[in-house]
Amino acid sequence: MLRHDILHLLAAHPEKYVSGEKISQQLNVTRAAIWKQIQVLKEEGFEIEGQTKKGYRLLKTPYSLNEWVLMKALTTTSLGSKIYLEDELESTNGRAKELARQGGFQGQVVLARCQSSGRGRLQRHWESPIGGLWMSVVLRPNLSLADASKVTLAASVAIADAFEELFSLRIGIKWPNDLIFNGLKIAGILGEVVGEWNTVQTLILGIGINVNFPRERLSPLLNATTLFEILKYDVDLNKLAATILINLDKQVIFLEKKEFEELRVRWLKRAVSLGEEVRIMLGEQVIQGIFKGITIDGALLLETEDGEKSFIAGEVQLRSKMSKYF
Ligand code: BTN
Repeated sequence: MLRHDILHLLAAHPEKYVSGEKISQQLNVTRAAIWKQIQVLKEEGFEIEGQTKKGYRLLKTPYSLNEWVLMKALTTTSLGSKIYLEDELESTNGRAKELARQGGFQGQVVLARCQSSGRGRLQRHWESPIGGLWMSVVLRPNLSLADASKVTLAASVAIADAFEELFSLRIGIKWPNDLIFNGLKIAGILGEVVGEWNTVQTLILGIGINVNFPRERLSPLLNATTLFEILKYDVDLNKLAATILINLDKQVIFLEKKEFEELRVRWLKRAVSLGEEVRIMLGEQVIQGIFKGITIDGALLLETEDGEKSFIAGEVQLRSKMSKYF
């Protein structure tokens, strides 16, 4: 794409002017065509300074989602090898599933600036206004079905690590993979298996993060917060997405090598309600006990009156005994 070629040229000379003549020669297009593309880039949020005698220079890339900026920030082995970015989708998980059924490959990433029917865990609706990070990753990892839930644990650690790296924010993880700040949910993960796991082995990992919008954009009924609410400024969604994908890429490689222990420790360090009395909702049934951690299989470990019991994600909800939120 001509626009991307122009960006590559400008980015190769950071802060410096690149003359229109040079761009036009290198890309074999007219200067008028370049001017036109520069206007489009400015509309996309790129800050590009143009001076008649000197040429153009790139001053700033946009904070809103942009395929070129995201690609440039990625240093992953496979995740993000193909990026699909749309203004609006019903659900990025839905689109990623379609891709998977058409023979998707590991590392395809679907992003939408907003979702009209975003989906959450336990068949819930997921509110997805503009400014959030709504992203789904197609994974075909070399893992068994039993290990699939570990990928969602890996994703929660990847997000928590990214928040710490980029914003020095410490967020907790509520089992299995809700991300919590000060008791309020800031992000969630929806892992879905496509087809028969044993034959197709495709996992869709949906990540939803409340980022650049005020909390009022979400229903007052939700115990939720947004990054904007915490930091009071907008952040670069591309950098955030790239950092999460880079972290996740490493974790998936670890998991494929059957190295779960490090991930388990990292997850436990951030776990909310660890060592506390919690309630587990198993359908209509409520089970009480002390939250002891996660097993080597990624299941929740509970010390109950009848001894230790483990529960796999998907079938239970965790509630803290004290808090009205968990
Ligand atoms: C949860 O209930 O905590 C999981 C929420 C997952 C939301 C994300 S947003 C991107 C992807 N597309 C969806 O429809 N859902 C996931």
